[in-house]
Amino acid sequence: MLRIAHRGASALAPENTLAAVRRAIELGATWVEVDVQACADGLVVIHDDTLERTTDGHGPVATQTVAALRALDAGHGERIPLPQEVLDLCRGRCAVNLELKGPRVAPRLLPLLRDALLAGWSADALLCSSFDWPQLAALHAALPDLPLGVLCEQVDAAAVAMAEQLGARVIACALEHADADAVAAARGAGCALWVFTVNDADTAARLAALGVNGIFSDQP
Ligand code: G3P
Ligand code: CA
Repeated sequence: MLRIAHRGASALAPENTLAAVRRAIELGATWVEVDVQACADGLVVIHDDTLERTTDGHGPVATQTVAALRALDAGHGERIPLPQEVLDLCRGRCAVNLELKGPRVAPRLLPLLRDALLAGWSADALLCSSFDWPQLAALHAALPDLPLGVLCEQVDAAAVAMAEQLGARVIACALEHADADAVAAARGAGCALWVFTVNDADTAARLAALGVNGIFSDQP
């Protein structure tokens, strides 16, 4: 079962920072997952659409410039990373799952993704995922070979249909809805099933026995 470092190794370093990504790589995580939001003039790696919880800044991410966001402290003196920095750090070391977290991410992410595919990032090393399925569809229309993951709370008929339509590689669902039916439904759509968020070994073992293919963990 794959170990996907959730927001980096976020139990051990500030979430969604290069320090958390580095820690995940050191721990031997198979994948690292980070969240991508649009700001006023670019894209940044941060989970929330506001700054208060994870930085010393205030207000919405969407209205601030990259330069202003990069001046903030995202914990222990870490900066808010750019998506490209995460790819550069992980290349050849760890696979990367970019979650399109907020609106308007897909069109801005396309040039980076196009370059990444041209540079040889393979389906084993790069995945874009989102709960915002229209953004996944926009990526798929522009880059049909880009590996995609459909995020959902529960693997229901709509999630399966979307995964099939997009040719997705992964469906990821919430731990409380991870059961044998979810595994079977994902398999039926030709997808691996990944589960978020799993931070204890007993639960991980139970999910592995069910046939779950990957777990997002803050302690990968
Ligand atoms: O991608 C799975 C998981 O990261 C989704 O939840 O809120 O941690 O981004 P969240
Ligand atoms: Ca996420």
